[in-house]
Amino acid sequence: MLLFKKQIPDTWINKIRASIPDILVDHAHLERKAATGALTLQKYKELVPHLDELTDIVIEEMEHFKIVLDLLRKREIIFGPPRQSPWIHGMMASIRKGRKTQVIDHLTCCALIEGRSCEKFQMLAEGLKDLDPELADFYGSLVESEGNHYASYLIMAKNIDEDDARERLEYFLNIDAELITQDHNIPVLH
Ligand SMILES: [Fe+2]
Ligand SMILES: [Fe+2]
Repeated sequence: MLLFKKQIPDTWINKIRASIPDILVDHAHLERKAATGALTLQKYKELVPHLDELTDIVIEEMEHFKIVLDLLRKREIIFGPPRQSPWIHGMMASIRKGRKTQVIDHLTCCALIEGRSCEKFQMLAEGLKDLDPELADFYGSLVESEGNHYASYLIMAKNIDEDDARERLEYFLNIDAELITQDHNIPVLH
């Protein structure tokens, strides 16, 4: 069960449907960044007990990256440079500095990115069926994995400091609620 306070706006799916090649390029970068995120989390001493789990996430995200790259090649879409997402930028910019606080914020932020991806992939599995059944199936196949990453990161944060993790989750859920409804026309998933 995902904890978000605001729904993804109805206009979102239409933006995606209108810009599938750009969205696939953005998605490839997202998977690459998700792998980098899991690798970066391995630097925190609090997460030493989760090194294997984080390595598994890195591998899984790189597998997703490869599948998206194959789709790009098959569709003759050029893998262009990444575009900045105002939503991801706003979330990441709110991470506190300092040892223990930083790791909890970092995990919470990664969890919510995974969670929103999970939700959006679920919407795409339905919302692209008529337009692009191959992509609809592909997105459907990613839902479980991204949902598991969401849960894993939240559990890791709670294992470090349950009260702080709960407080920071609330904080980031409020930032998400504020940012998710701010419409932008950049062709990115988030
Ligand atoms: Fe992924
Ligand atoms: Fe993921």
